[in-house]
Amino acid sequence: MNREKVQIFDTTLRDGEQVPGCKLDTAQKLVIANRLDEMGVDIIEAGFPVSSPGDFLSVSEISKIVKNATVCGLTRAVKNDIDVAGAALKYAKKPRIHTGIGTSNSHIVHKLNTTREDIIARAKYAVSYAKSYVEDVEFYAEDAGRTENDFLARVCEEVIKSGATVLNIPDTTGYCLPEEYGAKIKYLKENVKGIENVIISCHCHNDLGMATANSIAGVINGARQIECTINGIGERAGNTALEEVVMILKQHPYLNLDTSINSRQLNEMSRLVSDSMGMIVQPNKAIVGANAFSHSSGIHQDGVIKNRETYEIMDPLEVGVTESSIILTARSGRAALAYRAKKVGYELTKVQLDIVYVEFLKFADLKKEVLDSDIHQIVEACKIEGDIIRC
Ligand code: KIV
Ligand code: ZN
Repeated sequence: MNREKVQIFDTTLRDGEQVPGCKLDTAQKLVIANRLDEMGVDIIEAGFPVSSPGDFLSVSEISKIVKNATVCGLTRAVKNDIDVAGAALKYAKKPRIHTGIGTSNSHIVHKLNTTREDIIARAKYAVSYAKSYVEDVEFYAEDAGRTENDFLARVCEEVIKSGATVLNIPDTTGYCLPEEYGAKIKYLKENVKGIENVIISCHCHNDLGMATANSIAGVINGARQIECTINGIGERAGNTALEEVVMILKQHPYLNLDTSINSRQLNEMSRLVSDSMGMIVQPNKAIVGANAFSHSSGIHQDGVIKNRETYEIMDPLEVGVTESSIILTARSGRAALAYRAKKVGYELTKVQLDIVYVEFLKFADLKKEVLDSDIHQIVEACKIEGDIIRC
């Protein structure tokens, strides 16, 4: 069955790059943009052109080299921002301007010091003006997560009339629960005239660790674009992690949704972004963390050695990891020791394994992890007692 496509909008180079200390130069951005394009990302948000001459240059250069993806530039609902974005995107094969304004009471009162009617007027103006540069205009209702649904629906309806092609519903502060965010998307689908002609986009932040869950709730309820970053990097606690949403949709076929991402490139992509930004990936990070396919407790190791699927819900090859790893620690059992010993050249009989295992535990209690070189040392030490046969 043909699964419905969810567009992947990567904002590693815009929202992701807002992480303090992770600024990239244009050359680094070009390498990343090229790889995102090759991996099958649908839209690359290349930057916020008005923010600095460097960002303008990056968006302009990325526009020249990207072959397949849409290239997008961010703006506020401000004429000059849109003029600058239009110029930066001049060379893009498929350009998109991403413009918008805050819609929550908090933003309207405290940040913009204005009224709801003024917000609607500025939103409509920004979209119509952006249409004078590009056909594809995405509108973001900043802080939509905390915006009352009836007002959000009004804003959406007005910007659709002004020509918006994509409606971005950001949970800017990462506040929503998945049920709440999903219900918001459903409400918009059911209450906004013309919504069937545009794509609804999820842009979720991770302040409460729910960015991925919220994005998935969004697409289950009718959104067809997810805005995300490699390794989930971004402002504060970050954005939705691209690798997570891609694999969730892939591993849950009954949702009948998929992406165009070549998932086998996810690991390399993660390393490229982490190395370029000098930002380490936490070892327990889903999909791309160093421990995502490692097993260290005896019970799990025994299961994985018998059949990988006992403790793994996806094949590591599918995300570009060559194999699962069995880490030897003092919590490992005989099965793991025999497995790793065999890999470095020792086929142990049951009796031999019992002897080596006793020595292994003494050694492992002193060390965090037992390495291949340690296995040689342990087995050779047992051999001196004459009970080990080298294969
Ligand atoms: O989080 C947010 O609301 C944003 C918008 C600028 C799209 O990043
Ligand atoms: Zn954001």
